[in-house]
Amino acid sequence: MKDLKGKVAVITGAASGFGRELAILCAQEGMRVVTTDVDEVGLRATDELLRPSGVPTLTLRCNVADAAEVERVAAQTYETFGAAHLLFNNAGVASAGPIWTTTLEDWQWTLGVNLMGVVHGIRSFVPRMLQQGDEAHVVNTASVAGLLSVPSSSVYCVSKHGVVTMSECLHHELRAANARIGVSVLCPAFVNTGIADAARNRPKELAATSPEAAVYEQRVREATKRGKISAADVARMTMDAVRDGRFYILTHPNIKRAIEARMRDILDERLPSNPMP
Ligand SMILES: NC(=O)c1ccc[n+]([C@@H]2O[C@H](COP(=O)([O-])OP(=O)(O)OC[C@H]3O[C@@H](n4cnc5c(N)ncnc54)[C@H](O)[C@@H]3O)[C@@H](O)[C@H]2O)c1
Repeated sequence: MKDLKGKVAVITGAASGFGRELAILCAQEGMRVVTTDVDEVGLRATDELLRPSGVPTLTLRCNVADAAEVERVAAQTYETFGAAHLLFNNAGVASAGPIWTTTLEDWQWTLGVNLMGVVHGIRSFVPRMLQQGDEAHVVNTASVAGLLSVPSSSVYCVSKHGVVTMSECLHHELRAANARIGVSVLCPAFVNTGIADAARNRPKELAATSPEAAVYEQRVREATKRGKISAADVARMTMDAVRDGRFYILTHPNIKRAIEARMRDILDERLPSNPMP
C-alpha cells in the first residue's frame, strides 16, 4: 500500500511500545488514526503525541480478548471515518516459565490477548474491508517467538506461532478471494518496551500465576533492556514493509540463523536446537 495520506489506520495496544510508535508514524503520514488499548491513561498520552500532525483521531478503550469490544471498535471506526485501510493487530502480553509451572490463567490470559485478539481483529475488520473494496492491509504482530521455540516462553511461543500461521493462512485466503488486502506479520526479537511488565494490565480474574514466573520475567526484562533497536525503529521498518507489500517483517536479521537451524532440524528430523543456549 503506497499512498497512505488520508487513509484510516487502526492500532490495538497503542498506549505503549510499538503501537504508540506506529500511531505516531501513521499520523505523520497524514492518516486518520484510531488508537485502542486497555490502558486509557497511556492511550491519552499517545493521542497527545499525535496532535502535532493535526490529523483526525479517535481513541477507544478496548480489550482485544473480548470479541464484542473489538466489534464495537470496528463499528465506531466505520461510523466515524467510513473506512479502515491499515489494521495493526498489535496488542500483546507475555507470561513465562516452564510449561509444567504455568497456570491455566497464564494460558487463558496470554492466548486471549495474543491469539484471540488477532482473531477478533480479523473477524471484525476484514469483512468490512472486503465490502469497502479499497486497497487495505493487515499487520499482525507476532514475534521471533512465533518462528522459534524458546524455553520458558512456551505460552508466549504458542500464542505467537498461532499468529504467524494465522497470518499465512489469511494471506492465502485473501489471494484466493482476489481481495485487495495485503497481510504482513511482524516478528521482532527483544526490544525495550513495556512487554516485560505486561502483568500491569492483567485482569484480576486471570491473575493466578506461578512463583517461578517472576524469575523468568526478570530475564525477559533484562533481555529487552539490552535490545539494540528501539520501538520507533521497529515501527519504521513495519511501515516500510507495508509500503513495499512485504509479508514477513524480520527486524533482527541475526535471528535468521536460529530460524534456519529450526527449519533444518525439522527437515532432517533431528532433535530441536535450543535458540537460547
Ligand atoms: N518488545 C519486544 O521485545 C517484543 C518482541 C516481539 C514481539 N513483541 C510484541 O509486540 C507487541 C507490542 O508489545 P510491546 O513490546 O510494544 O509492549 P508494550 O507493553 O509496550 O505494549 C503492549 C500494549 O498492549 C496493551 N494491551 C495489553 N493487554 C491488552 C488487551 N487485553 N487489550 C488491548 N490492549 C492490551 C498494553 O496496555 C500496551 O499498551 C505485542 O504483541 C508483543 O507480544 C514485543
